[in-house]
Formats: sequence, C-alpha cells, structure tokens
Amino acid sequence: MKPVTLSTLQAYKRTGETFSCLTAYDASFAQAASHAGIEVLLVGDSLGMVLQGHASTLPVTIEDICYHTRCAARGKGPSLLMVDLPFMSNATTERMLEDAGALMRAGAELVKVEGEAWMADGIRELTRRGVPVCAHLGLTPQAVYQIGGYKVQGREAAQAERIIYDAKALVEAGASVILLECVPASLGKAVTDALDVPVIGIGAGPDTDGQILVMHDVLGVTHGRPPRFVKNFLNEADCIQSAFRRYHEAVKSRVFPAQEHCF
Ligand code: KIV
Ligand code: NA
Repeated sequence: MKPVTLSTLQAYKRTGETFSCLTAYDASFAQAASHAGIEVLLVGDSLGMVLQGHASTLPVTIEDICYHTRCAARGKGPSLLMVDLPFMSNATTERMLEDAGALMRAGAELVKVEGEAWMADGIRELTRRGVPVCAHLGLTPQAVYQIGGYKVQGREAAQAERIIYDAKALVEAGASVILLECVPASLGKAVTDALDVPVIGIGAGPDTDGQILVMHDVLGVTHGRPPRFVKNFLNEADCIQSAFRRYHEAVKSRVFPAQEHCF
C-alpha cells in the first residue's frame, strides 16, 4: 500500500471505492492494522473507556492523546493517522489551535473534533494553518451527559436536517472529512450524497464513503453488551492480524455493515 493521504481518500470519494478505518492506540496494534491494509487509523479518545476504564471519554487529556499518538505513529505503516481533540479542546479557537498543534507535533496527520456549525471559525483557522480537519457529527460522545446516553441521533426530520446543515457548514469552513456516528442509514446516505468530501461512518449505515470501528469491538474484548453497529471479527479468524484483514475486506467489499448493524 502506498502512503494514504487526504488525496487518497478524496479519490475514493470520486470513484466510489470504500475504505476502512480502525482505532489504534499503540505501536504494535497500529502496525498490525496498517499491515492488514486498513487505510485510516484513529487515536480516538475512546481510549478513555477501552484503555483507561472510564465510563466516558471526558477524562482524557491532551497529554494522554499525545502519548498514544506518538506510540501509534512509531508503529504504523502507510495508513493515515487521524487523532481526536479531547473534551473541551474546542472551548475556544485559541485552545483548538494550540491542542491541534500538539497533536500534529506528536504525529497526527488529520485532526478530528466533535461539534456543530458553531465550530466553523476554529476549523477555518486550523485549515488556514495547514491542519486538515475531520468534523465528528451525529452522536458526539463528549456530549453524552447532555444527550442523556449513547443514543441514535437524527431520527426526527428536523434533527436530520440540522445534521446535514452542520456538515455542509463545516465543510464550507474547511473540514476535509466528516465522521458520522449513530444515525439512521438513510441520513448516512443523505450526508454522503450531499458532500463532496469523504464521509466516514460508525453506525451510520452502509452508504458512507468509509467505515470505522473501535479496535476492541472488532476483537470482541469490550465489556458489556456491544452496540448494534459493531461486529467481532476475531470470532471467524484464527489471530488478530487475520481479524483485522477480515474487517478490512468486509468493508472494501461492502459486506460490512450488514442490515443488522444499521439503524
Ligand atoms: O474515539 C473514538 O474511537 C471515535 C470513534 C468511535 C469514531 O471517535
Ligand atoms: Na472519539
């Protein structure tokens, strides 16, 4: 695989080829995921839950994320490294610039931030400075206490319209990629069709340009009942590398997500 860049993802968008993404938080798993052909790795703030054992992503600090970014960056192959801005990094534009700068210095190649159209200024300033941005919409786990749980978003027409509006506004401001979490498949398709930038989905149906999952869910080591949109790929594989490859191939051939994984 050649190094995956933003241009690679843009080309996939144009040709309709789908791509796979997976979280990675350290060198060994980043290496294995890259080796399996997974195009994008995410150092997600989900590490607060799957690595640190917190009930939400809110306790994760910029130092935590930078540490795991450096680890993943050392191990990864040609995959593009996307990294989360943690909770409250979007409090002000200055804070966003400073924290995104720290992530880029640690090895990030694309910075992901949760929030809606109100983040346009911050995203514009990041883009101006050469920091590519992925805007995370739909279910935004940093807002879990406002939402009242990890719930599907955009079921009502007005809320769906709002998500489409936010996505367009943030792309207008400079966002290079949109990530949609936990929305009905019809809305995943509507957002993907409405934008000319790549859209990555998790629990957003089969029609987004890319798919992402949390590594622990792919390996079946998450505790509690897994959400509807996840699949344990280690069940049908004999090792972790083969589970990653099966996940990658299932996404590339659009076998995953199936109906049973969608809302
Ligand atoms: O932190 C994370 O792992 C994420 C994905 C679930 C998209 O943001
Ligand atoms: Na995240």
